[in-house]
Amino acid sequence: MEKKQQTELLRRAIEARGNAYAPYSKYTVGAAVQAESGKIYTGCNVENASYGLTCCAERNAIFSAVCSGERKILAIAITGPEGGEMATPCGACRQVMAEFADSPDMPVIVSEDGRSIEDDGAEAQFGLYRLGELLPHSFSL
Ligand code: THU
Repeated sequence: MEKKQQTELLRRAIEARGNAYAPYSKYTVGAAVQAESGKIYTGCNVENASYGLTCCAERNAIFSAVCSGERKILAIAITGPEGGEMATPCGACRQVMAEFADSPDMPVIVSEDGRSIEDDGAEAQFGLYRLGELLPHSFSL
């Protein structure tokens, strides 16, 4: 996957973060998934007054893809709040990624500071991981 495509995926994650519903933690997250069909699906975190019912941005993005008929994802980009620290995905979301990733080498693009490309004209800074290094020995049936 080219750097340009990775940057575009991160831009879509940043855009999706704008819809985050996080009145309790105030911690907004956005995610964008590149699916096998070529389409991009996005998600944001959706919190609940019953805290445990909260769903992460990554899972919402992946489930959106699956609900649209996708079965394989080729990459995911994630951003935490603007100006924040790099937000790597939680363990539960890593296991969900493993379910639909086309390979353990799937790129997981993580924004360094949550800023969009348009904010300062500079290219967004991001970390690039492989799913297999974030979740070695994932569970499978
Ligand atoms: N959150 C995500 O959306 N993704 C993660 O990988 C970790 C945490 C959300 C859940 C909750 O709404 C907020 O961030 C604080 O935990």
